[in-house]
Amino acid sequence: MKIALVFEGDLDSAYCESIKQVTQLPLVDSSQNAEFTHILKLDEAGLSLSALELRAGEIHKQPTCVNFQDASLLYRKASFGKHQGLAKAVGLNKHEPMYVLDATAGLGRDAFILASMGCEIRMIEQSPVIYSLIFDGLKRAAETGEQALNDILQKMSLHHAKAQDWFEEIRQGKQAKPDVIYLDPMFPPRSKNASVKKDIALLQEVLGFDEDSDSLLEAARGCAKHRIVVKRPGSRVRKGSIKPSFVVPGKTAHFEVFV
Ligand SMILES: C[S@@+](CC[C@H](N)C(=O)[O-])C[C@H]1O[C@@H](n2cnc3c(N)ncnc32)[C@H](O)[C@@H]1O
Repeated sequence: MKIALVFEGDLDSAYCESIKQVTQLPLVDSSQNAEFTHILKLDEAGLSLSALELRAGEIHKQPTCVNFQDASLLYRKASFGKHQGLAKAVGLNKHEPMYVLDATAGLGRDAFILASMGCEIRMIEQSPVIYSLIFDGLKRAAETGEQALNDILQKMSLHHAKAQDWFEEIRQGKQAKPDVIYLDPMFPPRSKNASVKKDIALLQEVLGFDEDSDSLLEAARGCAKHRIVVKRPGSRVRKGSIKPSFVVPGKTAHFEVFV
């Protein structure tokens, strides 16, 4: 996987420098990207990640960015009652208000939903590219000045770190113990035909799969006040996985809850 960084348009140079520093990607001109498989591009619309068609160095897929105003995200937010899967899994009714540590932030969607339901969310993301995408999404959302969106953003914070290191800091008392730890690692597909959403497929291309998901759960043990929630693909519990206290079922994913 070879990712290039591209800056295009009239941009804030300090912000460009910070993205360059965090990602450590080679900075190229948009016409010179033929040898790369993906580009991380900052332009006036924001930061986005795209796969490149190798043939002509042309962008072949839709770029993925983090957009907290995205219609589907707002739809999920509006239609997410407290009775539904995610809220049930984190135990929203029982320990409100609650602090949730989303230790595998990804594109920040679940975090946004939880924050919109009133949780304080701390997002941890280890990939510098994905961290930069969320950072940019939070920045653009804050710049809209929309009060309702701003109220949700106030509940969200983001850190570039490896979850295991954060858990260690919790053990040492350097970080506060969250009520809930939420884990949604990139599980290997259950079958060759397993369908995934376009942007998750792009994440899989760039990041690969997290083969250490069971060890991540082990590392989180003892670091939450109430429970650890693991989101897993598919509607059924996988044979051979560590037995959860209970399972919240779902159509495309289920939540394993460790109380
Ligand atoms: C499937 S995505 C999470 C999607 C997210 N729940 C959402 O709603 O957008 C998994 C993310 O977890 C991150 N990740 C995996 N293992 C991690 C670890 N040990 N520490 C921090 N981040 C990790 C990956 O880099 C990836 O971005």
